[in-house]
Order: sequence, then structure tokens, then C-alpha cells
Amino acid sequence: MKRKIIVTADGSKTIQIEDWNEQYHSIHGAVQEAYHVFIKSGFWQVEEKEHQVRILEMGFGTGLNALITMHEAEKRDVSVEYVGIERYPVSLDEAFQLEYPKMLKWSGSEAMYRKMHEVSWENTHQLTPNFSLEKCQKDFFEVNQSSLFNLVYFDAFGARVQPELWTAALFEKMFRALKPNGILVTYSAKGSVRRALQEVGFVVERLPGPPGKREMLRATKKE
Ligand SMILES: C[S@@+](CC[C@H](N)C(=O)[O-])C[C@H]1O[C@@H](n2cnc3c(N)ncnc32)[C@H](O)[C@@H]1O
Repeated sequence: MKRKIIVTADGSKTIQIEDWNEQYHSIHGAVQEAYHVFIKSGFWQVEEKEHQVRILEMGFGTGLNALITMHEAEKRDVSVEYVGIERYPVSLDEAFQLEYPKMLKWSGSEAMYRKMHEVSWENTHQLTPNFSLEKCQKDFFEVNQSSLFNLVYFDAFGARVQPELWTAALFEKMFRALKPNGILVTYSAKGSVRRALQEVGFVVERLPGPPGKREMLRATKKE
């Protein structure tokens, strides 16, 4: 499918799939959305209680969520094991056109971002003292872990274009993959998504969304 790079409202870039009119991130601000949904509403909640955080990302994509999580892990001195699932990896060239390291302006972020994209798939790589990354090239439905993760970043394309990914069938796998009290965060606030999460046993909260979106969801696997 044809992809192009576009600039979102906060000045950060994202990839657009033209045929679907769907983006990898919110058009209201890619970096803003990533911080709000995944870091503030997800990572910060978990890292308060855990010394070691295991994260499963559904949709590694451009690596933006992984990059900002790596930065948080170092800033807060929390050990993170990050597993990113992605069936259709973006190329290094495409990733670099997005200029995330340039925009985020942390020292060393460009080298780290490059490393994230260059390291081999299906192996675990210790990229910084506090952050390891394992990229798995497979379909979301092939995730079959049990009680392993503290946090799921559920970052699939929207239900409008991939409705099969926002169903109880996949959420059941997420529920199983999480440890007791583990949480799943997603940018979606659709009623059908909330109900499918509840159907598999999650307790679901509606939280304020990032700029441009009224709400988002956080689902907890209560003990
Ligand atoms: C919204 S984007 C993810 C954005 C990403 N988290 C980031 O920070 O750039 C959704 C991702 O899911 C991937 N994807 C779509 N269908 C998939 C499937 N069935 N299994 C695995 N990955 C899939 C896409 O290739 C895309 O990279």
C-alpha cells in the first residue's frame, strides 16, 4: 500500500497509508499522543509500583513508542524489557525520514533510534543499562504468552480499517499475556472496544485523551 510522510499538529511527523486514509499516529500530534497515551497513562502508572517493567507493544511500527519509553526508563532508572510485535516492519530509511531523534533532542537518541531499527529480529538486545528490546516479526494473533507482561501498548491501526484487531479474540490474548494487575492502554475510546475488553475480563476506565481526542481507554487485569 502507498505510504507517505505527513506532518502532524505538534510538528512531529508520521506515516500515512493513503489508500486507508489512516496514520501511524494521531494527526493532532504524533509525539504528544505517544506521551499521553502510552507514557503518562501507562508507563508512569506501572513504574510507580514495579522495579522491572515488561512491556508488550502491539504494533512496533516506527519505533516512536519504544524510543520514548527507553528515554523514560533511563530518566527514572527503571528496568524495562520491551517486546515489540510487528508484521510489516518500516525500513530504516523511512524511519529516519520521520526525524524523531532530531525533534526529541536528547543526546544520543539518533544512535539509539538507529540501533533499534538495525538490531536483529527475534533476539533480545540490551540497548541501554535499563532497556532491552526484542522485536518479533509476526502477526498479532500469534502472541501466545501467559502472565508475562506488566503493560500492553495496544497501538494497532484503527477499528475502521482493521476491525478484526479490536475484538475479544485478540483482547483475550492480551488478558492472558498480562500479569495480575497488569494494564493495557490504547488511544481508542470506542464503545465496542470498551465492551470487547470488558467481555474478556478487563476492568476498563475512560481517561481524558490526548489533544484532539476526547477520551482513551485503560484496561486493568484485576487480581
Ligand atoms: C498504528 S501503527 C503502530 C505505530 C507504532 N506503535 C509507532 O510508534 O510507530 C500499527 C502497526 O501495526 C502493524 N500491523 C498491522 N496489522 C498487523 C498484524 N495483523 N500483525 C502485526 N502487526 C500488524 C502495522 O504494520 C503498523 O506498524
